[in-house]
Amino acid sequence: MNLNQCVNYHDFEKLAKQRLPSPIYNYIAGGADDEVTMRRNTEAFNQCDLVPNVLRGVQHVDLSTEVMGQKIKLPIYCSPTALQRLYHHQGEHAVAGAAEKFGTLFGVSSLGTVSMEKIAKNFDIPQVYQFYFHKNRDLNKAMMDRAKACGVEVMMLTVDSITGGNRERDLRTGFSIPFRLTMSGMWEFIRKPNWAINYLLHEKFSLPQLQEHIDMKGNSSSIGDYFTNMLDPSMNWQDVADMVQYWNGQFCLKGIISVEDAKRAVEIGCTGIVVSNHGGRQLDGSRSSFDQLAEIVDAVGDDIDVLFDSGVQRGSHVLKALSIGAKAVGIGRMYLYALAAAGQPGVERVLGLMQSEIERDMKLMGCTSISQLQRHHVKFRR
Ligand code: FNR
Ligand code: LAC
Repeated sequence: MNLNQCVNYHDFEKLAKQRLPSPIYNYIAGGADDEVTMRRNTEAFNQCDLVPNVLRGVQHVDLSTEVMGQKIKLPIYCSPTALQRLYHHQGEHAVAGAAEKFGTLFGVSSLGTVSMEKIAKNFDIPQVYQFYFHKNRDLNKAMMDRAKACGVEVMMLTVDSITGGNRERDLRTGFSIPFRLTMSGMWEFIRKPNWAINYLLHEKFSLPQLQEHIDMKGNSSSIGDYFTNMLDPSMNWQDVADMVQYWNGQFCLKGIISVEDAKRAVEIGCTGIVVSNHGGRQLDGSRSSFDQLAEIVDAVGDDIDVLFDSGVQRGSHVLKALSIGAKAVGIGRMYLYALAAAGQPGVERVLGLMQSEIERDMKLMGCTSISQLQRHHVKFRR
């Protein structure tokens, strides 16, 4: 199978699985515990159906929209994800490059493998930085100052990861960062020589947002260790209210599922929230983001930009979320599989396919702009 044969999410996943050492593939693909929430995230879209209108004159469709003060050409964006150079040596360069080509957002992760400064310098896209709240308050301030200095426009604080999710696939495969050369790790290198050669021949793995603050030279650490040892489990609404004030710009909370929290985000001055359960990677058994979206939009949709992610695999999923009232929709694994499969051309292909699906489905729905997608375009079966 090659890139040109990939026409949907599952094809990209298949190709990524062929190319990646299994611990890395499973880190991307996995969720928490029994992965019930992860599966439900996608199934939830099938609880409702699109209700199209016909004969509306749809030769020109405009997919552009505005979210958190940023004009984008597509209503989807690449959600921030960790460790991208581990999946393909181009890493964040590839994802930012593809986002730039399609005129959309890409969030650089705190656990990114290319610095926020490099992304800001090299790519003409609205700069979004994903923040994890560390125990070390000086580190938090230093990171916000760094982000301001390099031109980050949107601060995205992830609030659903106060501790690491229970990723049982990673426990079994021993996934760790940097990728550890245990006996089984060695075996994986030998089985996937193309990946291994790419990994070894390119810039050494690093975490440039954090490297001044953590010691990666000694033992390799797991993502779970990072959450447990470096992030601050005492983080509360007051801490975030202080951050919002300090930042004094576009600020959104990623990982809101309850209506109560959505209202509090408005109260403390956030300008956006992402309704998300982290792709089912944190609290298994938590409600799917799509199941919660309508209630949250009803409660705060007039006061704050409601973004959405978790489970999106199709243009029609995007249309459903937009019809309910999301302002923009994030994808995670979908572009990561494409990145792993083929670097920047892969991410471009996935965004291109999504763009065509969204445009085609808008025409079939009788809509020519994102704002025309309304609640009456979806009907729940129950
Ligand atoms: C993530 N996600 C994530 N979120 C975040 O705020 N910071 C991060 O560093 C990461 N890292 C990360 C790594 C990997 C491998 C995955 C799959 C996900 C979560 C991500 O931003 C997004 O919320 C989910 O991926 C959305 O779900 P789907 O689209 O993957 O189903
Ligand atoms: C994850 C983290 C890094 O989901 O957010 O693996």
